Amino acid sequence: MRSTSEAERTAIAGMLRYYDARTAEYDRTSYELMRRDPDGAADLARLETFLRELPRGATLDVGCGTGWLTRLVRGRVLALDASEAMLNLARRRVPSAVFVCAEVPPLPFLAGSFVRVLAAHFYSHLANEVVRRAFVAEVLRVASELVVIEQPPPGEPAEAWEVRPLADGSSHRVYKRYITAPELAHELGGEITLETSSFVAVRAAGSDGPTPRSRQPVRIRRAIAAARQQGDLSPLTHYDLERSRLMAKHDDVAVLTTLNAQFIEAFRQGSWELLEPVLSPSFAYLDGRSGEVFAHERYVESLRANPVPALTIDQVVVHVDGDTAVVSARTSRQTGTYSRYVDTYERRGDVWKCVHACVWPLAA
Ligand SMILES: C[S@@+](CC[C@H](N)C(=O)[O-])C[C@H]1O[C@@H](n2cnc3c(N)ncnc32)[C@H](O)[C@@H]1O
Repeated sequence: MRSTSEAERTAIAGMLRYYDARTAEYDRTSYELMRRDPDGAADLARLETFLRELPRGATLDVGCGTGWLTRLVRGRVLALDASEAMLNLARRRVPSAVFVCAEVPPLPFLAGSFVRVLAAHFYSHLANEVVRRAFVAEVLRVASELVVIEQPPPGEPAEAWEVRPLADGSSHRVYKRYITAPELAHELGGEITLETSSFVAVRAAGSDGPTPRSRQPVRIRRAIAAARQQGDLSPLTHYDLERSRLMAKHDDVAVLTTLNAQFIEAFRQGSWELLEPVLSPSFAYLDGRSGEVFAHERYVESLRANPVPALTIDQVVVHVDGDTAVVSARTSRQTGTYSRYVDTYERRGDVWKCVHACVWPLAA
């Protein structure tokens, strides 16, 4: 067993930057999206009821994010997050709570400060078993019980460094584990207190409660290997699929923005695996400089041979007209040099597929 390596530190710092940058769109792309789906809304209502019904008692909400769930907790609440942007939003939402900006573990509190630590969609971002153990040990130092809320796996893989796009076209690597209620209960030595298709909750108690954490076998499930394999990402993660599935029903501009971000990320990485799911099988590319239509093989080869890690976009425009949409943006590979592209999408059943792309250079 080893502690966090330099590479993992860098990856974790990237993940924290992602949450900071996601603040403004977090609720819209998570809870508000779920609310518009009948099954999602029912699961969210159960989670919210579960939180409202937690017994009163000083609670530390670790990784509170925008405070969507924090506001439901009764009694004294201290909410902690590594992101100042998240905390600013949460502060406005839950004026009665006290807020602390810190990266954990360790937990910067005296022993026995709280009745409970609540960790909602936080534990699953701890990318290393050593850190997970340290976190649980810290929790049981500062509180009598730990309530962990997580998402069960919709399929394989159950953990990955996911590529997550944001509306501004940026993309980020985020470590995420999806875990079933029995697995989580086993790992924490706790009891299952909520189990729905979208959320699971487990309560683990300290020395006066059930089995101490140290005697529980822990399932590592390739966490450390996943951190090392950052270059080897699965193209579509549960996050993308779930988000796209929910968005596709309700928000064309949001889903097209996500697809556009994935398109750009594919070019940054030179990854056909990342691009293929975005495209229609009959996709055609018109090179705006030469006027040539590229054969499929030439397009794939050129993509793979020319990754552009520094590729950026701005001036993004999404126009939807019925089952047809156009996404356009300006790209830059280096300062002062720009191209523009127009991608045409068609709605096919529940999903959008890109049927045509044209890219041409802009005058300097
Ligand atoms: C998925 S969000 C969950 C937010 C909220 N608990 C919820 O369920 O809606 C994860 C949050 O944890 C924060 N976070 C991630 N790793 C952290 C760490 N090591 N220390 C403190 N906060 C962290 C992020 O900034 C983000 O706001």
